[in-house]
Amino acid sequence: MIRLSVMGSLAQLPPGLHHVAIIMDGNGRWAQQKGLPRLAGHKQGAQSVREVVRTARKLGLSALTLYAFSEQNWERPLEEVQGLMQLLFDYVVEEREEILQNGIRLKAIGNISRLPEFVLRPLLKLEQDSAHNDNMTLSLALSYGGQESLAQGMRRLAEEVSEGSLSVEDIDEATFSARLPTAGLPKVDLLIRTSGELRTSNFLPWETTGARFYVTPLLWPDFGKDALLAALAAYAEETEVRGP
Ligand code: IPE
Ligand code: IPE
Ligand code: MG
Repeated sequence: MIRLSVMGSLAQLPPGLHHVAIIMDGNGRWAQQKGLPRLAGHKQGAQSVREVVRTARKLGLSALTLYAFSEQNWERPLEEVQGLMQLLFDYVVEEREEILQNGIRLKAIGNISRLPEFVLRPLLKLEQDSAHNDNMTLSLALSYGGQESLAQGMRRLAEEVSEGSLSVEDIDEATFSARLPTAGLPKVDLLIRTSGELRTSNFLPWETTGARFYVTPLLWPDFGKDALLAALAAYAEETEVRGP
């Protein structure tokens, strides 16, 4: 039995589903198909983020992690990068109240010191002000690279060993997980990618070990509530067939 139908009410999450991660891809293609500038695709993509966050929260998901900007994305044309930074600023400022009112904890993961000051300031403030919320953790991967985050975690372990605060024998999966930016979150159960690409693009290499991978041909600006419910229904169906 599929627990969440595409049309259906927001009845219940599939059992065992706690953390969904999404590679939000296809904004450029969406704009191109409509003869619009790429930035129009990013703007519509930001609307999808709003709808997906709201739906995930209503469903009672514990953790949602969104790949918004990769370390590699800095290499895009300056105008596009600036437009994305402005949209990120708008998101943080405009969604602040709703995030706080809904008990959402916002976290930024990635090399965020590379973000411009005008974005970083309201982002860190919201992170701080929402730190004690516990209904859902919304992690935004910004200037994020999976290999980079693993290397940083390894560096932290090495520093602690050399300082004498950690012994080599105590290093295991849990001690390493605790040094990653996703520390404290459940492992990723479901990884979604839009636009039909079958790449993982350096996203959460450690955290998605064992996750189900769901790829939809929908471009990110066309992904909303119904598309999220369809992904969850596919997860529920597969879990029912194969077992957890
Ligand atoms: C995803 O859409 C948004 C970011 C990576 C910032 P793209 O901009 O990658 O869109 P496509 O892949 O060119 O269609
Ligand atoms: C992945 O999309 C990164 C984000 C969604 C932020 P990209 O379009 O940047 O990645 P590739 O080029 O398909 O690997
Ligand atoms: Mg892309």
